[in-house]
Amino acid sequence: MKKFVVRGGFRLNGDIYVSGMKNAALPIIFACILNKGKNILHNVPWVSDIMLSADILRALGAKVERTSDDDMIIDTESIVSQCAPYEYVSKMRASTYLIGAMLARFGEAMVGMPGGCDFGDRPIDQHVKGFEGLGAKISFVDGSLRADAGDGLVGGSIYLDAASVGATVNIMIASVFAKGTTVILNAACEPHIADLANFLNRCGADICGAGTNKIKIHGVSELHPCEYTISPDMIEAGTFMVAAATAGGCVNIRNIIPEHLETVTAKLAETGVGVEVFDDYITVTSNNKFRGVTIKTWPYPGFPTDMHPQFSAMLCYAEGISTISEGIWEGRFRYVSELKKMGAMIDISGNSARIMGGLPLVGATVGAMDLRAGAALVIAALAAKGTSEISGVEYIERGYYELDKKLRGIGAEIYLVDDGQ
Ligand code: EPZ
Repeated sequence: MKKFVVRGGFRLNGDIYVSGMKNAALPIIFACILNKGKNILHNVPWVSDIMLSADILRALGAKVERTSDDDMIIDTESIVSQCAPYEYVSKMRASTYLIGAMLARFGEAMVGMPGGCDFGDRPIDQHVKGFEGLGAKISFVDGSLRADAGDGLVGGSIYLDAASVGATVNIMIASVFAKGTTVILNAACEPHIADLANFLNRCGADICGAGTNKIKIHGVSELHPCEYTISPDMIEAGTFMVAAATAGGCVNIRNIIPEHLETVTAKLAETGVGVEVFDDYITVTSNNKFRGVTIKTWPYPGFPTDMHPQFSAMLCYAEGISTISEGIWEGRFRYVSELKKMGAMIDISGNSARIMGGLPLVGATVGAMDLRAGAALVIAALAAKGTSEISGVEYIERGYYELDKKLRGIGAEIYLVDDGQ
């Protein structure tokens, strides 16, 4: 079993480089199914979710090759209409994007119900609403979703009851070849939605409004392959900003688009930590003294839910009390029990956590139960007294490429240990 061993108390200084955005790369990788050719993708983070998506495409007949640390060639010409292997699909939420892609290319899809990090209920009713809004017939057969386009999808106006990233992605992909125009209302506005639209438009699609809550997709007859560079990972960047603030020091977080992080930057500045924004990097300066704050997570451009656990870890060390209200995932608080093993004082009431700051955390043996919870435990351990052992590294590796190596590069004492069990 793999675990991180972290010795706390070391300040962080220097440059840390952010990889490509996992949650932008995944929709784009599945969208390659639409163009039946050889796509070249750059700045792809080689995290386990990406490796899994490559295995899923290979299982469908695509040729997928990693040509460097972050370049990928995906040739989808030989993909045939078939059901993707359940043992792959069931491990990752993003495999739902297969439905939209196979439906658009073949007029049919059969995909096992998705897995992914467990924050409690992760419905796909808005995905289904979108497919049906395009005229597809949806049924559930033996734990798999079956979609049938009949005589072909027809564009329509689809209002999302929740500004769902996944549903917005799936409807955008499914509607690329639909007759007429599709309008997605109350669409998710995350930067990865814009990245997907930019990729599809470069392949010949006709999409406008991505990044706003109203997206229009004018159906086209076919797409051609293209070369594309994935945007930097805003959540990895935010994670490094919070790590620098918590451990103390002066760190330049490089290879980023600062505009994607304005909410995180603003909230960090509210704590009193030094944050300077430049064209493609942000400098965080911290003397370990910062104030508690109030956070409410909300769809982009609100405060990202995927930064909630990391801020909780930091705010354990703040002066004063903080509160975090979680507006997206009811199951997001699973990191709290692990932080409490390190001495954190956190009370949960409904969808809010109240964090009593100012208590020194002590290194402990803890376990990551999801991707961002794992990142939060690493952050807490960086500033804790003594040594921590963090299991569940496989969750962290879903979204962070070489996290330990990157943090060691700015002075952290963190090592990956694999006891082979
Ligand atoms: C994406 O998940 C991300 N995953 C998540 O990041 C992220 O937390 C989430 O968006 C919110 O930003 C990927 O991009 C692979 P949603 P997704 O559909 O698409 C409700 C990480 O840490 N909803 O935007 O599954 C849902 O219950 C991961 O990188 C419905 O009600 O999230 C939730 O309350 C974890 N019906 C809200 O919408 C639906 O059909 C947002 O979910 C779909 C969603």
